[in-house]
Amino acid sequence: MTTKAFSGRLAAWALSAFALSACSQQQGGAAEGDKGAAAGSKGAGDKGAAGDKGGKAGVAKIALLLPESKTARYESKDRPFFEAKVKALCPDCQVLASNANQDASQQQAQAEAALTNGASVLVLDAVDSASAAVIANKAKAQKVPVIAYDRLVPGTDAIDYYVSFDNEAVGRLQGESLLKALNNRPTARVVMINGAATDNNGLTFKKGAHSALDGKVQVVKEYDTPDWSPDKAQDQMTQALTALNNQVDGVYAANDGTAGGAIAAMKAAGIKPLPPVTGQDAELAAVQRILVGEQYMTVYKAIKPQAEAAAVIAYHLATGKPVPTDLTGGKTVNNGTKDVPSVLLVPLAVTKENLKDTVIADAFWTQEQICTAQYAEACKSAGL
Ligand code: BGC
Repeated sequence: MTTKAFSGRLAAWALSAFALSACSQQQGGAAEGDKGAAAGSKGAGDKGAAGDKGGKAGVAKIALLLPESKTARYESKDRPFFEAKVKALCPDCQVLASNANQDASQQQAQAEAALTNGASVLVLDAVDSASAAVIANKAKAQKVPVIAYDRLVPGTDAIDYYVSFDNEAVGRLQGESLLKALNNRPTARVVMINGAATDNNGLTFKKGAHSALDGKVQVVKEYDTPDWSPDKAQDQMTQALTALNNQVDGVYAANDGTAGGAIAAMKAAGIKPLPPVTGQDAELAAVQRILVGEQYMTVYKAIKPQAEAAAVIAYHLATGKPVPTDLTGGKTVNNGTKDVPSVLLVPLAVTKENLKDTVIADAFWTQEQICTAQYAEACKSAGL
């Protein structure tokens, strides 16, 4: 795809999630249907009551509850894109943003504080599925709608919208890329470092990856990574290397943070050359590792259209306006309890070969940010 075509496609994503959300997808084993989206079901009356609690009457408050800060995206992409979009739509609206630093009880306290401060909608990126359901139920009891942001919250009817990527496709892209890097060799020995089992996405990525890898390679060790912590991923990889006598041909790492941990463990064990390692998020450090050949691929999720779609929905809910139905286009994802009206964006696999036409073309990272002195040589040989 040319740079121009790709940028055009991204612009289309940003403008209309409709076309992209029309295709049939599965999330975390939950079936989706094209049931009509119950968009904008909460009326202005509901919102007014919540919005007038605390603070200046008439100022709509939108809570953005982020899960952690070890993964770079939340503070460097999600939060600023979300805040900017809310500001553009509604200069008087207030975003109450918090980050739970991987701590479910901290997120619970932050959600309660937001409700007490008069938040009229919660945009919730759950640390932990089970405690997030408790948060959502509490919000619902106060007639405050909840948008599940990036991570679906299963087992509650208190989720009004879901804004994410096709997460099973993320896992599939990772698995398929790894297969390609291993030349589809059935004897290849793969270690899987999955995400957190308390995050619905962690389970969904894992499901997608298994659908690509099972029966095609030997999965010789597999771990879930508590809290998605890169340090724990490193420990797990160290254990795997010891148990396997360093005989590893490929590593499935669920995101760039866990990939970084796995790579550090392999370097410490003196493994050279490093086997192919997957990732996700197109973090700057991961893009640089891809350039120097330490990491094979990442999954690029353009966070701007995701944050902006959530901001648009939040703004409408917070101000009691009906949510435009073309945002979801009737798309729903079942969370085990209800069909949640959903916006699902499309992820892209990125290797050294298409870095320029994706991450750079989209200015997710600029060439200047990537090609610092340390990476100048690698950039040059990659044609950057
Ligand atoms: C997100 C990933 C992120 C991971 C760790 C997942 O739910 O979709 O983008 O890397 O959590 O925070």
